Amino acid sequence: MITISNVQKSFNKTEVLKDISIDIQDGEIFGIIGQSGAGKSTLLRCINGLESYDGGTITVGNNVVDIKDKKKLRSLQKKMGMIFQGFNLLERLDVYQNIALPMKFWGIPTTTPAAKEKITKLIKLVGLEEKVHSKPRELSGGQKQRVAIARALVLDPEILLCDEATSALDPEITKGILALLQEINKELGITIVVVTHQMEVVKQICQRVAFLSKGKVLAVGRPEKLFVWPKEQEIRDFLREESDKLPSDGVNLKLFFYGEGNQRPIVTQMSQELHTDFNICWAKLEDFREDVYGSLVLNMDEKDLERACAFLDSKDVTWEVIK
Ligand SMILES: Nc1ncnc2c1ncn2[C@@H]1O[C@H](COP(=O)(O)OP(=O)(O)OP(=O)(O)O)[C@@H](O)[C@H]1O
Ligand SMILES: [Mg+2]
Repeated sequence: MITISNVQKSFNKTEVLKDISIDIQDGEIFGIIGQSGAGKSTLLRCINGLESYDGGTITVGNNVVDIKDKKKLRSLQKKMGMIFQGFNLLERLDVYQNIALPMKFWGIPTTTPAAKEKITKLIKLVGLEEKVHSKPRELSGGQKQRVAIARALVLDPEILLCDEATSALDPEITKGILALLQEINKELGITIVVVTHQMEVVKQICQRVAFLSKGKVLAVGRPEKLFVWPKEQEIRDFLREESDKLPSDGVNLKLFFYGEGNQRPIVTQMSQELHTDFNICWAKLEDFREDVYGSLVLNMDEKDLERACAFLDSKDVTWEVIK
């Protein structure tokens, strides 16, 4: 659906996107995560032509995104709804009018029965039936974001681009917005790209994610693959995981559990079989969409390490010695 090939971009001679290549599939919820300044928003803005790029190509469907070709760009932009952290709602317009705004912009009549039906349906989808005639100042942050989402959907886009759509919201409201995005993806079949620095967002809804660092793609893959057992030091630093809390003597061995593995009494079995005690010094269970992934760190004597690893291998448990 979206193909980004070797894209480069500089601002005032500083390269902010360096040879970025990402393929986003039709119907996918794709995440772009990374530290502040990594280039996430810039990349998103390049996808919908709000920003130009200097090298490489971006295609949406089969069309190249080229900001010089204004006419083609406009019709491409029509296919892409966008939502921002700041909502960007017009204060003097009510909920209904804000949602109808893109239709006005495109010269589509907003008072026909078909238009009214569509807007009313969207208001229902985002759960704002009671607020149809409220002004943005009368809404909570979560409600404002719901208006922004409905507005982004009013032209029947194929793609929804979200830039930090939940960053300003509290965790409970964030959950609701993420559930809504999932529903939109499932029910309407819309491809969704979410730019975020929130792990929770990626874990809850993204099927795949790209980790951006200093304008480069560090890794792309399923969130559980990338974040349960990150190989890249930068991703570990980003997650700020267990490493600074572990004992400095002995060895620390990290175990990973997926799905069914969560239910096996591996550690107690290992302790009994090897006639040794282990100190459990760190553990975590995480939800990734429907699945639960767990990891825990055991501290042990150096002399027990080899036997422990052999035991874990025999039980097909993934492990890693933490340096
Ligand atoms: N219009 C601009 N002019 C000059 N530099 C810019 C412009 N927009 C972004 N930059 C620079 O490009 C780099 C990437 O910015 P970008 O906004 O894409 O980062 P980000 O990953 O979205 O960060 P955040 O998580 O803080 O939103 C930053 O160093 C930023 O200062
Ligand atoms: Mg940003």
